[in-house]
Amino acid sequence: MTKTYRIATIPGDGIGKEVLPVGRRVVDTVAAQHGFTVEWTEFDWSCERYRATGSMMPDDGIKQIKGFDSIYLGAVGFPGVPDHVSLWGLLIPLRRELDQYANVRPVRLLRGITSPLAGRGPEDIDFIVVRENVEGEYSEIGGRLYQGTQHEAAVQQSILTRRGTDRIMDYAFELAKTRKRKHVTSATKSNGIIHTMPFWDERFAAATERHPGIETAQFHIDIMTAHFVLHPDWFDVVVASNLFGDILSDLGPAVAGSIGIAPSANINPEGQFPSMFEPVHGSAPDIAGKGVANPVAAVWTAAMMLEHLGEVDAATKIERAIEISLETPETKTRDLGGTANTADAGRAILVALNEGN
Ligand code: NAI
Ligand code: MG
Repeated sequence: MTKTYRIATIPGDGIGKEVLPVGRRVVDTVAAQHGFTVEWTEFDWSCERYRATGSMMPDDGIKQIKGFDSIYLGAVGFPGVPDHVSLWGLLIPLRRELDQYANVRPVRLLRGITSPLAGRGPEDIDFIVVRENVEGEYSEIGGRLYQGTQHEAAVQQSILTRRGTDRIMDYAFELAKTRKRKHVTSATKSNGIIHTMPFWDERFAAATERHPGIETAQFHIDIMTAHFVLHPDWFDVVVASNLFGDILSDLGPAVAGSIGIAPSANINPEGQFPSMFEPVHGSAPDIAGKGVANPVAAVWTAAMMLEHLGEVDAATKIERAIEISLETPETKTRDLGGTANTADAGRAILVALNEGN
């Protein structure tokens, strides 16, 4: 019997709507080659919907989407709708209520891409940022006082729990066990942030004890950003809190060529809820509607989704097809120094897949 995966797609706004269809076509193509099928259900949850109805998704949105095997999302955000509305009205509720506590963002310098760092090749840049995705600095605890007066004040609480910290660290150490280097680096700031970050360091030390055989390192986030640029080869698996992981996972892909290639997964490791797969980039209003967005991030993200669903060969095949498509300037997009538009770049990936490379 043919295996069928039920996947919810949320193209969202801006270039999300341009790159997701490319990812879907790529998935359908490898599915046919590998003997499985995908049943797509599209949801119009977006800033456009917010403008029309006053909410990013319906009240029972989480209930509607809970039963799918995976969620494939483009990006949300559009000028005129404040970014905290799109984030807190859709992405954060999905990540939290589906307990997608591990945000996994691979950073790899693909063949065919020149790093902005001089003299670096694919062997130098190959690491994964594991970001805590449901607590930490992104918390709604806090408030504003005396708004609009000279006494105005704003308070925002970070929340780090032992359960939340331990499970993201365990995820990072388990991931490191599957990799060649078996190394985990912790991003901290326990000099300046004197309550939560020393706690983070203690939990990292405890995780190191729980996982013998894994080498570790830790850096304060400020110097760590410098090391990402100067010594990307030092890193294998990086574990970070919600905010630090967010920052590092934009810097990482920039070092590996472009935010336009960076994939990410919001994983519910226990499999109790669907995991959600989305490119790292946003809706890019500056290029939206022009048909020039790089579809590679969305396609690589789709490969991560298939890998998570157990279709490892299909995922590997997509990654190889991406690398082939990046070999010539005519088939890669402008952010990578090429001349292709979204459609050309997508076609090149499909051609590589169909040629069975
Ligand atoms: P962005 O990632 O949308 O764009 C940053 C820069 O990178 C822009 O110059 C853009 O043109 C370029 N870029 C991004 N993706 C590209 C691609 N695939 N191909 C070629 N160039 C690409 O980030 P920005 O500008 O900070 O945010 C724009 C909107 O997206 C905001 O509303 C923001 O809240 C939202 N956003 C949404 C995210 C999500 O839905 N997961 C993540 C990040 C931002
Ligand atoms: Mg971000």
